[in-house]
Amino acid sequence: MKTHEDANTMTQTPPNTYGFFDDAHREYVITRPDTPLPWLNYLGQDEFFGLCTNTAGGYTFWKDAKLRRLTRYRYNNVPYDLGGRYFYVNDGGEVWNPGWKPVKTKNVAYECRHGLGYTRIVGERDGLEVETLFFVPPGENLEVWKVTVRNKSAQRKTPKLFSYQEFCFFDALNDMTNLQRTYSIGEVEVEGSAIYHKTEFRERRNHYTLFACTRPIAGFDTSRDAFVGIHEGLHEPKVPFAGACTNSIAFGWNPIGAHQVDLDLAPGAEESFAFVLAYVEQGDEPKYDAPFVMNKKVGRAIVEKYSAPGAVDAALAALKKYWDDLLGNFQTECPNEHANRMLNTWNQYQCMATFNMSRSASMYETGIGRGMGFRDSNQDLLGFLHMIPSRGKQRILDIAATQLSDGTCFHQYQPLTKKGNAEIGGDFYDDHLWLVLSTCAYIKETGDVTILQEPCGYADKEYASADAQENLLHHLETSIAYTMKKRGPHGLPLIGHADWNDCLNLNCFSTEPNESFQLAGDVKDSKAESVMIAGLFLYAANEMDGLYSFMGKAADANRMRAHHAEMLAVIERETWDGEWYTRAYDAEGRVVGSKSNEEGKIFIESQGWCVLGGAGANNGRAKQAMESVHKHLFTKNGVVLQQPAYSTYNKDLGEVTSYPPGVKENAGIFSHNNTWINLGWCLLGDGERALEYYLSICPSAKQDQIETYRGEPYVYAQMIAGKDAPCFGEAKNNWLTGTAAWTFVTVSQGLLGVKPDFAGLRIDPCIPKAWPGFTATRRFRGNTYQIDVKNPSGVCKGVKSLRLDGKDIDPQAPIPFVADGKTHQVEAVLGA
Ligand code: BGC
Ligand code: NOJ
Repeated sequence: MKTHEDANTMTQTPPNTYGFFDDAHREYVITRPDTPLPWLNYLGQDEFFGLCTNTAGGYTFWKDAKLRRLTRYRYNNVPYDLGGRYFYVNDGGEVWNPGWKPVKTKNVAYECRHGLGYTRIVGERDGLEVETLFFVPPGENLEVWKVTVRNKSAQRKTPKLFSYQEFCFFDALNDMTNLQRTYSIGEVEVEGSAIYHKTEFRERRNHYTLFACTRPIAGFDTSRDAFVGIHEGLHEPKVPFAGACTNSIAFGWNPIGAHQVDLDLAPGAEESFAFVLAYVEQGDEPKYDAPFVMNKKVGRAIVEKYSAPGAVDAALAALKKYWDDLLGNFQTECPNEHANRMLNTWNQYQCMATFNMSRSASMYETGIGRGMGFRDSNQDLLGFLHMIPSRGKQRILDIAATQLSDGTCFHQYQPLTKKGNAEIGGDFYDDHLWLVLSTCAYIKETGDVTILQEPCGYADKEYASADAQENLLHHLETSIAYTMKKRGPHGLPLIGHADWNDCLNLNCFSTEPNESFQLAGDVKDSKAESVMIAGLFLYAANEMDGLYSFMGKAADANRMRAHHAEMLAVIERETWDGEWYTRAYDAEGRVVGSKSNEEGKIFIESQGWCVLGGAGANNGRAKQAMESVHKHLFTKNGVVLQQPAYSTYNKDLGEVTSYPPGVKENAGIFSHNNTWINLGWCLLGDGERALEYYLSICPSAKQDQIETYRGEPYVYAQMIAGKDAPCFGEAKNNWLTGTAAWTFVTVSQGLLGVKPDFAGLRIDPCIPKAWPGFTATRRFRGNTYQIDVKNPSGVCKGVKSLRLDGKDIDPQAPIPFVADGKTHQVEAVLGA
């Protein structure tokens, strides 16, 4: 296909048989549709989002995949990925899809390019090429589906093209479960080439979904029964095979949007047009023009806008510019192609997805489950703040407002309502500490301490006005105080339902298959403690110390140092097991994650956080804990979560023991926590290990084992099956994982050592000895830093000299920051 001619942009990596990176265009090119699993992309960057697989599967929603779902998708379908943005081509009686599915006609040439915020799928059969391009223009609440049909044959062709997608009745859960109602409420209107889906508009909704074509159509259908049939599947829908729409108007049952476009193309001719799928809020417009006739003013304006010549291409150009600008905030050229490609493009892109979606909607998250996670979204910010700090600020305040006044937090909340999810509630005793990390990261990025004064109140309190609400700093203090207070017999923080490891449930003894592992009858006054939270607390206290010092509040900084010292003493006294830090104490005071345990002797999380928090720094333990990780947990596919894997269910430990050995929290490779170990190696100055560990979970480096790995080679996976599993090396739960933000931190701040700090940008790389150096461009508080790091004496770490615009400056301190909006040259030389 034409795009392969672009050979000079192709990757040096041995290509897998499914596709390759086109780094110059920031695209992943999929060359055959039968990928080991559906390979997903996201459309949308602000409030309107779509999931789009390499065969055009997926769905669309506005803000909230549970409460404002616009199109339908049946998860875990057969095949896995079925339903989406489909085009059926009827070319002289032969029916096929440019994206291969659902008809899967033989001899359709295929190429899919997943790019930043868009997916382009091209199919060609018998001299007819159909190119489809899906994207959400920046700032818009709509998707554009651009179609270009080319007659590459020597004969005139008169193909018919049918669009197809199924409307969802906004509340996704109700839509798929409450059929006694939903089968009777579906309503649409059609005006020209525009289909209006207006179910429930007559009652409490003031919004609708618009699906319109920018060119005249030959027909339409809005009834699924008419277009697909009752006993037919999406691979054999009636209308495309018959070659003509029926102009059906859905009344109840299942409304869809389908257009028929008849084309007449001379040899060599092509035609381009588009479809818009929009979420439309009626605002103050009167709802109706006449009884049952919706006022379509707002919708009509949208169709007009995108029907104007050049409008679609201008929107695409705006999207490309948007991403070029954003990614321009951090770019590097380092000696490792995987690190380059991931950091420069895909990792930052994934960070946008995790920021927007948290853990709500992916191929593994159905959009009706967890919504935004408290700890998850706080961590997602760490990879996002350098891109759009203003959105980060708002998110921090939204999250903080779901904290309760005693310090605990709603574990999850809905993005539309921003209200905590009462079903899961709170009492995960790590949650609040992540707020300290995200807030400090925001201030390090921006220098803007005014965020601390922003009112954001507690979720369990009523306030007369916003001014009466406690501010963000109050929340941070509440968080620190909470951990200091809620401690157990050893002086370690209590764990609650769980800490970061949702599945280590030391207080909820679940024996019934129908109950939640996390929520089943908490042991009253349980004393189960977490070493991981203790380590995380050390880190948070250090952050608060740095923040207060920056603000010139010495007494507060000292107070934080005292907290740190107190917790550190507890850790060193109570949790050193000889070769590593233990993981927890259970409800009866028995140790977890110790060599005295039969299984689960060593866990990853407490090694990572104790080391990052500064434990073991002066007594050799940090190094030894890390070496123990290497010895017992590291594999070529990453670091497993603990060893030995649990072989039987143990209610005293909870969900972690429910998983078969080698997957998820039971000794799977949880990529997320691998990054903490990685940062640990950077702290200790071992650049070889830092890179080796990074590459072990890096999807771009999995190309030559893709049949085992199976996941998208361009985004990090939450989990890779561990060595205890028969499918060692198989990725699952790609896209929505804290790995995205944390690998960004690991590579940009750990390996490359470009670290935002309160006073300015700090340069402190930790690279393999063999690297001669690297360059990076970092936009920071409006200035641009062009960083050139040289490594003439082949060390891993240690900045010997640092020059700013040709002048020597203190190599150990942050680069003095002066806001001038200019480009500055930074030269760092590593060495002893
Ligand atoms: C998963 C965890 C996840 C939790 C969320 C568990 O089944 O293993 O990774 O955090 O569910 O509820
Ligand atoms: C995924 C969850 O989203 C996250 O909150 C949790 O920390 C990890 N699983 C580990 O259990």
